[in-house]
Amino acid sequence: MTVNQSPAWNALTEHAKDIGQSPISKLFTSDPDRFKKLSYSAANCMLDFSKQRITQTTIEGLINLAEQQNLQQKIEALFKGDIVNPSENRPALHTALRQPEKESLIVNGTDISAEIHHSLVQMESLVDQIHNGQWRGYDGSPIKHVVNIGVGGSDLGPLMTCRALSQFAPTNIRHIDLHFVSSMDGSQLAQLLDRIDPPSTLFIVSSKSFSTIDTLANSNTAREWLINASGMSIELISQHHFIGITASPKKAAEWGIPEKNQLHFWDWTGGRYSMWSVIGMAIALKVGNSNFREFLAGANTMDSHFREAPLAENLPVLLAMIGIWNINFQDIHAHAILPYDGRLAHLPAYLEQLEMESNGKNVTLNGHSVDYATCPILWGEVGPNAQHAFYQLLHQGTESVMCDFIAPALRYQDQGEELQQQHQLALANCLAQSRLLALGDSMLDNAENSPIHKRYTGNQPSTTIMLDQLSPLSFGALIALYEHKVYVQSAIWEINPFDQWGVELGKQVATSLLNDFENTNNTNNDSSTDGLIRFVLQQRQT
Ligand code: F6P
Repeated sequence: MTVNQSPAWNALTEHAKDIGQSPISKLFTSDPDRFKKLSYSAANCMLDFSKQRITQTTIEGLINLAEQQNLQQKIEALFKGDIVNPSENRPALHTALRQPEKESLIVNGTDISAEIHHSLVQMESLVDQIHNGQWRGYDGSPIKHVVNIGVGGSDLGPLMTCRALSQFAPTNIRHIDLHFVSSMDGSQLAQLLDRIDPPSTLFIVSSKSFSTIDTLANSNTAREWLINASGMSIELISQHHFIGITASPKKAAEWGIPEKNQLHFWDWTGGRYSMWSVIGMAIALKVGNSNFREFLAGANTMDSHFREAPLAENLPVLLAMIGIWNINFQDIHAHAILPYDGRLAHLPAYLEQLEMESNGKNVTLNGHSVDYATCPILWGEVGPNAQHAFYQLLHQGTESVMCDFIAPALRYQDQGEELQQQHQLALANCLAQSRLLALGDSMLDNAENSPIHKRYTGNQPSTTIMLDQLSPLSFGALIALYEHKVYVQSAIWEINPFDQWGVELGKQVATSLLNDFENTNNTNNDSSTDGLIRFVLQQRQT
């Protein structure tokens, strides 16, 4: 029996027919205590689900579905290190990366907690050497610029967190300019190399596999730039200017990173779950080692809540199950991430990878094609800017879209009245937009007399996630909240959230097409691909 033929699923299908008659506006008028009943707090996060198209009965039905899918056991399996990624025969132990040192975790006879903390200490020592000017470039200059070269999980998490937490950079450490280079087309690197100075620049090559062509192409260009500037050998340049962070030490060594410049993590750390490991070195460089530890502690608080809280009060479980409700029972397949705080500008891109690379799957763990929807299309933008870009579609388009509004309650506490007013303005807009999306113009007097092009239907569901304030602790918890949400949804859909076979074939096809650019007689591809290659080659000749 597939999940969508199960009793709990069928009960929710029936319930959806009932609730279809009740727009969100009606749910509010029929229960003045709706916010109180449908908002939940834990681990520095407050989640308001009252603007979702749900009732208490919906939550009960969703929890029944979670129980039917043995969610509690699956949560335990994740934390214990069971093989939750069967297509790669691995556990997924990102939660262990933020576990306190005193809690040991034995996996396959090894205490991985000890290994994790050993690697963290190694990372912290490198961070200290860079901060205090001990790490020197080829001419003895202290490091001023650090460039993280990586892509996907080896880029998005550190990039997002450095932006989110930049105000926490300690004032008593030497300032380092951090840069991120990911795109294989070289555009970020080309611009950056004009602005930075070879002897005071250190490159961190972040790659779990150390075989991602995007990262290797950028790293090769960076190394050539240094060799040309210094006239030194690959060996000397690598010693002074490259750190490799990887789960494939042999490949890093083959590329030329000396053993002493390598930091290691493990194949059981998924790329998109890796910023909690030494891949987070850029974060530690930005905010300092102790704030990085705080960030891990924040995630750990959410982990403990996820593992221990009853399903019906469990934030990641509720966030996930209400998502399931929207996707599988309300037929909503678009999800907008809308932070009302510019520091969270990279959160949508991070969640695009986390959610869509994890749950963008159409095959179950048992190898059957699914006949129900899985991960929706997810995108987003800083809310106030998105209001002037795509909110029109949210308000008056033809698509149902579920939205996450995310904001800290407090900001600019030490930075003066004007900025605090600006934050209040942002919050007022955040609440106004979610209100209007939920209720439509039913909240206005005489809306029915407006011309039709000025009407707002509403009934677009959203969740508001509020943090007390944005800090290493609350931000760690927020990201762990989304990670666990993704895991819960995968458990309901019976899919593997920890592999990404769908991106592999594209890499192989690209490698073979690269050769076709050198071979003018290529005729082996489809006519579009060959025609486009011929066009490029012709342009080169003119
Ligand atoms: O192509 C997808 C992917 O494998 C992601 O899952 C990963 O985060 C990214 O590439 C980078 O991989 P790596 O860290 O091995 O270079």
